[in-house]
Parts: sequence; structure tokens; C-alpha cells
Amino acid sequence: MMRIDILTLFPELFKPFISTSIMGRAIDNNLVNINTHNIRDFAKNKHRQVDDYPYGGGAGMVMAVQPLYDALDHVIGLHDLKPTIIYLSPQGRVLDQAMVADYSRHTNIILLCGHYEGIDQRVIDKYVDQEISIGDYVLTGGELAAMVFVDSVTRLIPGVLGSSDSILEESHTNHLLEYPHYTRPSNYKGDKVPEVLLSGNHKEIDRWRRTQSLKNTLIKRPDMLSKAELSDEDQMLLKELKEHK
Ligand code: ADE
Repeated sequence: MMRIDILTLFPELFKPFISTSIMGRAIDNNLVNINTHNIRDFAKNKHRQVDDYPYGGGAGMVMAVQPLYDALDHVIGLHDLKPTIIYLSPQGRVLDQAMVADYSRHTNIILLCGHYEGIDQRVIDKYVDQEISIGDYVLTGGELAAMVFVDSVTRLIPGVLGSSDSILEESHTNHLLEYPHYTRPSNYKGDKVPEVLLSGNHKEIDRWRRTQSLKNTLIKRPDMLSKAELSDEDQMLLKELKEHK
């Protein structure tokens, strides 16, 4: 089972997230074990202060070494294997589906959520294996990024989602966006489902879906196409689609 420990100043933010829907079920089924720890509980000073003014001056506060060293030593001790320690930060490598798939095969992970202007660099130098960003924008803290990481990684753990086929087909796994989906009724107030999907001809349906997937990617995310594995037929379809644009 995968064990994830999250170090944060706001453990209560994670409660609804880890108890709801697919995350809740994955935890109930012992497919993943998620523990949150309040960094403030490790502060030894009188006011349980976790931040301080930056050396050299400047704006903002910095999360101090003592509570973080002690919190990290504590949670590392809870792992029977050497955990991978990840610091969520806008300076990190930007998370993508290949990294998510890679992490879904890890068994021991510690996530460190920062706040204020950042954390004392010595914590990063001494403990952190990888800095990860969830995109090129700045959040007020690492908590939302940690949830994005946990959500995207957990759903790839075998047994968490019903069918593994849907994972292979979904957007970003093969560097293509997915085809459009439809369900009953086939005609709602005159808005109709594409005829081919009602035909029962699976070869035609596959071909239609592949075309839609290529078209969707060409229109919405042409930058992805360079990474996609494309057959000769795909290449021809794309050429046609580009000409008709
Ligand atoms: N903390 C603040 N901004 C962040 C981002 N974009 N990704 C990860 N952690 C962050």
C-alpha cells in the first residue's frame, strides 16, 4: 500500500478531500494511506511560531528550520522504507501525466506544503528530493498543489478506478485529447447524438472517435501533437483536417 504523509499548517483543509468520492473509497479499501501533520505542533518556542523575518531583509516571512526539521524527522521515522520527499513550490518541475504515472508506483511519499514567502533553503537542501509545481502561477500555499498531486497519483493506483482501459484512453496518457462522449437520450429537444455512435458498427465508431480525438487536439492543443504516436492513417487524417480548417 502507498503511504503519503502531508506536512502542512492547515491539515483541516484536507479532511473533506480525503473522505469524499474516489479518494475516500481508495482509503477505505486500503489502497492508499494518507496522514496529515500540523507543522505548528512541532514548534518549540513559546508562541508556537513557525515563521520569522528573512535574513538580509525584504518583504514577507520565511518558514523557519526548527519546526520543519523536527516535523520531517518525525514523519520520516513513520516510514519503513526511505520516503521520497516532495516540496510543492512554484519553482518546481511542472507536474505532467508521465510524472504522475511514475509517482503512482512509489510506496512512500512525504509532501511538504509551504506558506508565506517560502521555507528556509536549508530544509530544501537537507531533506527535499524533488520540488514540484502544478503550473506556472502562484498559490498562497502548497496545500492545493498537494491535493492535486495526491488526487492525480491515487487514481492511477491499480484498483482505485474501475477499469484500466479508461486510463489508457484518457486525455494526456497518449498525448491526445479524448473524443466527445454522449449518453441517453439520443435526441433531447432536437439535439442529437452523432448517428455513427448508434450504428453498432464498432470499426466505424473507433474510426470516428480517433478522428474526433485528433481534431480536438489539433484545435485545442496543437502543441501536444508532436509527442503523440501517430499511425499513417492518423497522419493522413490530420493532413485533411488541417486543409479543411
Ligand atoms: N505553491 C505556490 N504556488 C505553487 C504552485 N504553482 N505549485 C506548487 N506549489 C505551489
